[in-house]
Amino acid sequence: MQQTLFIVIDGIDGAGSTLHSKLLAGFLSLKGLKIHLTQEPSNSEIGKLLRNFLKDDKIPPSTDALLFAADRDLHYRNEIKMKLEEGYIVISDRYIESSIIYQSCQSEKITIEWVKNLNKFAGKPDLTIILDIDPKMSLARKNQKDLEKFEDISFLEQVRKLYITRAKEEGYFIINTDDIIELVQEKIQQFVLNKLKVKGIQVKE
Ligand code: TMP
Repeated sequence: MQQTLFIVIDGIDGAGSTLHSKLLAGFLSLKGLKIHLTQEPSNSEIGKLLRNFLKDDKIPPSTDALLFAADRDLHYRNEIKMKLEEGYIVISDRYIESSIIYQSCQSEKITIEWVKNLNKFAGKPDLTIILDIDPKMSLARKNQKDLEKFEDISFLEQVRKLYITRAKEEGYFIINTDDIIELVQEKIQQFVLNKLKVKGIQVKE
């Protein structure tokens, strides 16, 4: 049976976690691996509610933190864990790190320890990749009328700083995405291929 790996691609808004998760999933499938691609907020009813709340800045940060944790709890139990047990390599576009960073930046009352505790039932990823970009650049590319509540320069500067600090502390692979997409993706692929090799997971040449 194929050994599995739980990979998370996370990072600041606009850095391209959705695009790079999809490209990585396609690449690993071509290498003959069974891949399950997923994302947070998830497709559950709580995930759908959270997507609506991204357009509502009157939702208290504590409610966000609790709902993101509940969404993740279900997502892990009902989908990620099951897929790992079936031998899939799971790639999640965002996971616990998003809650730790975004919700603790939303309010001084929300500590990293509290967020970690809320999320203690969700299984830990084997590999976390953090994508980084200067928010001035990523927001400039967006339609200013469609911005969600976290897409604000000064908030995202704070988010970026915390992602970088935690990536260093936790030993996450961090990569700046202000480069040609193919080059960024190639670095991600090389990093993941090395990890697969260390785990003894065979891939097609
Ligand atoms: P996305 O479509 O870029 O993934 O947007 C999801 C937004 O939700 C993004 O601004 C980050 C935010 N978010 C949190 O604040 N906490 C979380 O736990 C997750 C998964 C996402």
